[in-house]
Amino acid sequence: MKKLKIEIMTNEDLETIKDILQTEFDEFWNYEILKQELSSNNSKYIVAKTLDNIIVGFAGIKIILDTAEIMNIVTKKSFRNMGTGKQMLEYLINMCKNSNIKTLNLEVNSTNTIAITLYKKYNFKEVGLRKKYYDNTYDAILMSLNF
Ligand SMILES: CC(C)(COP(=O)(O)OP(=O)(O)OC[C@H]1O[C@@H](n2cnc3c(N)ncnc32)[C@H](O)[C@@H]1OP(=O)(O)O)[C@@H](O)C(=O)NCCC(=O)NCCS
Repeated sequence: MKKLKIEIMTNEDLETIKDILQTEFDEFWNYEILKQELSSNNSKYIVAKTLDNIIVGFAGIKIILDTAEIMNIVTKKSFRNMGTGKQMLEYLINMCKNSNIKTLNLEVNSTNTIAITLYKKYNFKEVGLRKKYYDNTYDAILMSLNF
């Protein structure tokens, strides 16, 4: 597993990856949405950086009372399958535990087997299904981790 630093994501981090967000990370999360998320009091975002400060992933949760929801978890394409996702997810889980969150929820496209495998590794359980949730075609699997 690659040695990484996990830090709270700043606006400066977002500016650093602005131009490569959709091409090298994930087309689903755009700059404007992330900028709003970073300024929201209920959201907590993290970045994974190599020891020489290259951003290789980011992830965020939204907290509502004692429940949190994973909004996204994305590894830079050229850094996938090297343990970055696991390190970010572990960090988010610990963040929740330290904030007395009782449940961490997420929804994931049922075709996204890599993400589903990752979540199951950390004991997330399937708790529901939203039929044709993405593009009116793919189901969303709802998953949940209770502390
Ligand atoms: C899901 C995602 C964040 C995983 O990030 P990652 O840094 O590649 O994850 P890791 O290297 O920590 O791998 C975690 C686990 O996923 C599975 N996995 C990762 N890459 C895989 C691959 N190419 N094939 C099969 N399984 C794979 C493995 O089970 C792995 O655990 P292991 O190393 O103990 O075997 C990444 O694929 C991604 O950014 N996808 C696009 C965005 C997305 O779909 N996010 C989740 C939806 S909300």
